[in-house]
Amino acid sequence: MLKGRKIVLGVTGGIAAYKAAELVRELVRAGAEVFVVMTRNAQAFITPLTFQTLSGHSVTTELFSLTEESEIGHIALADRAELLAIAPATANIIGKIAAGIADDILTTIVMATKAPVLLAPAMNVHMWENPICQENIQKLRSRGFHFIDPEAGELACGYEGKGRLAEIPAIVEEIRSILSPKDLSGETLLVTAGPTEEPIDPVRFLSNRSSGKMGFAVARAARRRGAQVILVSGPSALPAPSGVKFIPVRTASEMREAVLGSLPGVSTLVMAAAVSDYRPKGTSPEKIKKSRAELSLPLELNPDILHEAGQRKEKRLLIGFAAETESLLANARKKLAEKNLDLIVANDVRLPGAGFQVDTNVAKLIDRSGKVEELPLMSKEDLADCVLDRVLLLRSA
Ligand code: C5P
Repeated sequence: MLKGRKIVLGVTGGIAAYKAAELVRELVRAGAEVFVVMTRNAQAFITPLTFQTLSGHSVTTELFSLTEESEIGHIALADRAELLAIAPATANIIGKIAAGIADDILTTIVMATKAPVLLAPAMNVHMWENPICQENIQKLRSRGFHFIDPEAGELACGYEGKGRLAEIPAIVEEIRSILSPKDLSGETLLVTAGPTEEPIDPVRFLSNRSSGKMGFAVARAARRRGAQVILVSGPSALPAPSGVKFIPVRTASEMREAVLGSLPGVSTLVMAAAVSDYRPKGTSPEKIKKSRAELSLPLELNPDILHEAGQRKEKRLLIGFAAETESLLANARKKLAEKNLDLIVANDVRLPGAGFQVDTNVAKLIDRSGKVEELPLMSKEDLADCVLDRVLLLRSA
């Protein structure tokens, strides 16, 4: 979704300026065209050459530079921007923007642009807490400026407290969110993700290789597109997405309780979790000893959460995932019918680039009418958007 989007990135003079290099890399990696503008103070921390190399475009540093103006004028840059991000944003730039000052290239672009502006503040905790700074932020927020708050932690100046630049993935996510159409506003999506863990004894469990990447991508994409999102996830190493109600669970029974308990207000359920079909029959209260040559573990069926949701479907859209290693379409169609689904996302987990742990997937979308859409290899982020596009289609059908 960032492919070809034109982003102007303003870098101001704080120690976090070096982190802006990573932000440029991430945006370029996602396909965005990034034009960096630096204040004079920013150049004391990091050189324009770094940004020029990473962005592939010349870096703008002067308001009245003959060469820079002839290459791309500051008004052209303000017009060209689909989004203007300032990271890090110092107390100084925030104050200048709030006061309407346009005395250098960056503040002039802010004044001249019609694009949304995102500020990622980073500063000393006392500067952050200063009422003047907070009032300026309030003023800018009320004028429609977007902010991504700094994090608390150890600061470069030796203090502890709020003031560290937000994490780069969170800034990228905020940029995606601002640029997304809000075509899912009004929807409440419940997304499940990850594996479940079924305890055998206090230290062992049965699980599977699901990483949670697909479900987390659906949750993030839905929130970007304006939906209210509840994410119920089994154990996963991924960070909880911002702006999403996050309910961590462990077992299939816990997931069932969380899903069925939230269902009444939910308009679309996307079950991307790889729920363990079976669990050990009775968990041993003590660690099982290595005393026998062979050990059998009796298993019992877990509840089928999606099947239960299908029994009380009402007007809700139900979307399931089918990870298969054989007879992909036949098995997926059977699940779609048995679980009373509107759509099933089927993937052959043996294909290269598909299935567990990787960042990409190869899927077929099958709907109630039996129509099959074969999608090429794509990132899980893009697949999430394809699935959500189908939610809109199903709603309008
Ligand atoms: O039957 P199968 O496990 O292949 O079905 C896959 C779909 O059903 C997935 O969407 C999965 O999240 C859901 N499921 C469930 N409860 C289970 C097993 C699977 O909700 N116990």
